[in-house]
Amino acid sequence: MYNSMRKKVSIIGAGHVGASTAQLVAHEGVADIVLCDIAEGLPQGKALDIVEACPLWNSSVSVKGTNSYDDTAGSDVIVITAGIPRKPGMSRDDLLKTNAGIVKGVASETSKLSPDAVIVVVTNPMDVMAYVACKMSGCDPHKVFGMGGVLDSARFRTFIAFELGVSPADVEALVMGGHGDQMVPMTRFTTVKGIPIAKMLAPDKIAALIERTRNGGAEIVSFLKTGSAYYAPAASAYQMIKAVLFDEKRVLPCSAYLKGQYGVDGVYVGVPAVIGARGLERVVELELNEEEKRDLDKSVAAVKALIEKLTL
Ligand code: APR
Repeated sequence: MYNSMRKKVSIIGAGHVGASTAQLVAHEGVADIVLCDIAEGLPQGKALDIVEACPLWNSSVSVKGTNSYDDTAGSDVIVITAGIPRKPGMSRDDLLKTNAGIVKGVASETSKLSPDAVIVVVTNPMDVMAYVACKMSGCDPHKVFGMGGVLDSARFRTFIAFELGVSPADVEALVMGGHGDQMVPMTRFTTVKGIPIAKMLAPDKIAALIERTRNGGAEIVSFLKTGSAYYAPAASAYQMIKAVLFDEKRVLPCSAYLKGQYGVDGVYVGVPAVIGARGLERVVELELNEEEKRDLDKSVAAVKALIEKLTL
């Protein structure tokens, strides 16, 4: 931090997802990191542990653990992971009230100190928390977006790769809609090196992979019992952080504030978008068929219903 010319990434919430994200940023050496949490000692301990790994990674970044938002001032990227995770039997939506309260405070405090930052929202229910972060930060909506689509698409890619015995790196997948049970894996826009999966897999197989993707988070919660996934969520957040830091213009499925695109207005929901230094630079509009449009509308309605339960 000491007059560093490096970029600065502040991660709010030093739990499983936050610390894993910090680890990736430190390992890649792409920015100085501030890890901030309300729990005393937790961010300090994890930050020290991560910074002590930096010599082994040939990484020169600083990693600071803190309980004070003041240390986040002047960030290029803020990642919000603060909140409670799911327990078995809980849906992401069950986290609504508690996490809305937490994200509200985090977004309004951090945006004052880093008015130019791009905010990446991870806390669930993610689309609604992106909405809360946008409203409470007062930021332009293109500066605030949610992470879930990258994760859902990564899960879909993984399951397709398992099924076909190919590298997941050669599978491109698109999952749209809310990061919840109503998410919309887009078969038509999911390919293996450009070959649509419908040419490689029978419809019932594809349906089973879609179902597993929809339940991807819950599958991990049911194994872990005490919390939810964090390695793939952190990797997803990192892909977005990197796209912003290096102005990569990556086309990623993100939870974006829609202003008429896809016939949706005033809601955060997952769509493909271009991510660069200015944040979410452009929503990519695909021509959807009737079934896809219907599924997307259903997912949007589920996100809207949660937003309506909020008192901001
Ligand atoms: N400010 C900062 N940190 C906070 C605040 C707050 N107001 N409130 C809670 N936290 C911290 C907790 O102290 C905890 O360390 O957020 C951290 C959350 O970490 P975990 O409980 O390990 O949860 P994690 O698995 O990281 O998930 C965080 O991301 O994927 C989503 O559904 C998940 O909403 C959950 C979030």
